Formats: sequence, C-alpha cells, structure tokens
Amino acid sequence: EKGGYDYFMLKEIAEQPKAVADTLLGRIDASGLLTLDEVRIPATVLREVDKIVIVACGTAFHAGMIAKYAIEHWTRIPCEVELASEFRYRDPILAPRTLVVAISQSGETMDTLMALRHAREQGSKVLAICNTNGSTIPRESDAVLYTHAGPEVAVASTKAFLTQVVACYLVALYLGQVRGTKWGDEILAVIRELSQISRQVEQVLETMEPVRELARSLKDKNTVLFLGRHVGYPVALEGALKLKELAYMHAEGFAAGELKHGPIALIEEDLPVVVVVPSPRGRSVLHDKIVSNIQEIRARGARTIVIAEEGDESVVPYADHLVRVPQTPTLLQPLVATVPLQVFACELATARGNEVDQPRNLAKSVTVE
Ligand code: M6R
Repeated sequence: EKGGYDYFMLKEIAEQPKAVADTLLGRIDASGLLTLDEVRIPATVLREVDKIVIVACGTAFHAGMIAKYAIEHWTRIPCEVELASEFRYRDPILAPRTLVVAISQSGETMDTLMALRHAREQGSKVLAICNTNGSTIPRESDAVLYTHAGPEVAVASTKAFLTQVVACYLVALYLGQVRGTKWGDEILAVIRELSQISRQVEQVLETMEPVRELARSLKDKNTVLFLGRHVGYPVALEGALKLKELAYMHAEGFAAGELKHGPIALIEEDLPVVVVVPSPRGRSVLHDKIVSNIQEIRARGARTIVIAEEGDESVVPYADHLVRVPQTPTLLQPLVATVPLQVFACELATARGNEVDQPRNLAKSVTVE
C-alpha cells in the first residue's frame, strides 16, 4: 500500500503533482474562470462579506497564513488568520458578514471544530477547506471546498498542505471574481499560472537528490533555522515544523525582517540556516531585502541553504547550498518552495533513525482540545 516507497510520507510527497492537479480539476472553466458551485454560499452573500477569518492548526495554519496574503491582495477584504486554539478563547469579534474559513486535512481537529462552532453561534458563515469527505468539520460548516489530495496517512502533512494552499487561492480568486475587484486581469493570469504548478512541483521532485545528500550531512546538528519574508515566512515556519516533528531537532522559522530584532544573536559558526528567496521579478524589493539578510547571516558564519528561483544569480555568491525552484509569481512560490523542505525533513529523520510516518508523541488528528 506504500506503492513501493519506504514510507507513506515519501509516497505522499511524490503524489503532490497529482494532488494539486486534482484540486484544480473541474474548478476552472474553458474561459479561465472559476466555477466553484460547490461553495453553496450564494454570490449575494459573498459580495457582502466584509471580513475573513481563517482558523486552523499546525500545517493547516501555515496554509492559512499564506492565504491571507493572497486574499487581501486579490479581494481587498481584511483577512485575519488565527490558531484555532487561540481564537476560541479570546472572545473574537464575529458578525453575520464575517466569513470564517476553517482549514483541516482530517476534518476532525477539535480546536478547529470548536472554533467554527463558536463562529456559527455568532451568526458568521463558515466555509471548510477539508480533505476528508463527510468528516465532522465539513458536516458542521455552511459550505465546503474539498482538497482532492487523497488519503494522507503519514502524520506529517505534505500533500494536504499544498492542496490547502491551492484551495485557499481558489477561494480568494473566486471572491475576487464574484466581487469584481480591480485585479480582474491578474486573477485570470494567476488562474493560468496555477495550472502550471503541478508540472513545476514535478520538476522540483526530480531534482531532490542534492537536498537529500545535504540533509544526511547535517544529521548530527542540533539546530536549523529557517528564514522567509512575505509568503516565504509561513514556508519557513512550515519547514521548521516538519523538521521538529520528524527529526526531533530544534528548528525555528523567522520572518527575515525580524533578524535584527533578536534572532540574529543565534547565528554562530556553521549553523545551518535555510532561506526562502522570493522571485526577483515582480516586487523586487522583497527579493533584495532577503539577499541582504543572507549576506548578514553569512558574515556571521551561518551555513546558508538558499532556496531560490532558477535564473536568480544574485544569491550565488552567498549560498553554501543552493536549491533551485522553477520561476513562479511570488504568491505561488510556496507551492514549489515547500517541497524541498519536506524532502529535507524526511531525509534527516531517516538519517537519524526516526520513525518517519509515526513520529514520537504525535497523532495524525488531534481530537482533544
Ligand atoms: O487535520 P488537520 O489539518 O486539522 O490537522 C492540523 C494539524 O494537527 C496538522 O497539520 C499537524 O500540524 C501535522 N502533523 C503537521 O505535519
């Protein structure tokens, strides 16, 4: 049932191109517009939405963090994203015009379920993004957009994450389409770009041997740091979470702009630091800032592991290890940049002799609060 792979996690990493393609399937019509009829919330209600609140836990929360950038950019609707376990207990402001998006692979995470129950009690509409048909979270929501990742068995979430990001983008683009924002042309272009992503994830998977080799060489390290900006920041957090849960290593993700506010004090000789570099095309200011962050940490002895777009030569002088990902618009980069981090964590876990599919102390779905 592992399809020839040693672990479910490896199989699920390899299934990502298909998972992404399946999640898009049937949701884009011939004219390049989205047809999300399954989102049963009527367009009239969606046009009235004045706030979006995303609730989720763990990896699904990181997908939600990425979604916030896309939703606010494409729809101009204010969007908050919050850990479900925090949201419920702080008396959040919810109203009938608030759309709550609950993201969950299993559909059974208790904190997320309690958050959505609370939201519905306050009269808000809840849209679930879920991978498990008929599970509790979609059953208790007003509408559901299923991610079509197929069953995810490994405790560490991989293909569910990529499809959650895709589903969130579909929701964002759909809201933009229904409400008609000034980004109409851009939305059409992004839908086209999204259709390329499956192939690009495949390309990334074909070039992972050096990442595996690098992971093995780091097996006796105690700490790995991850830096990113903009959507690269949640990618950094996701890379760190994967490493914690699988390799049992101290791993932390930071917003690169925060370095000087504390974390740079952690940098010491030969400390591995993974940096997610956004595209130099488009908003190049983001890119240039992170390149100077790489210079700063390298000057202090860090061993830099740089994830950067093909053709971005500016990072070459400062990268001890360079991992290339295909060219994508910045907002879509998490879909390709997360993949090497999954492979990295899986290989490190293996090298350290850990149980990849069943990490210690963890359960696939957390059904207690
Ligand atoms: O089933 P869910 O998506 O609601 O689960 C949320 C988290 O428990 C889950 O993503 C967890 O963080 C993973 N083990 C991370 O790999």
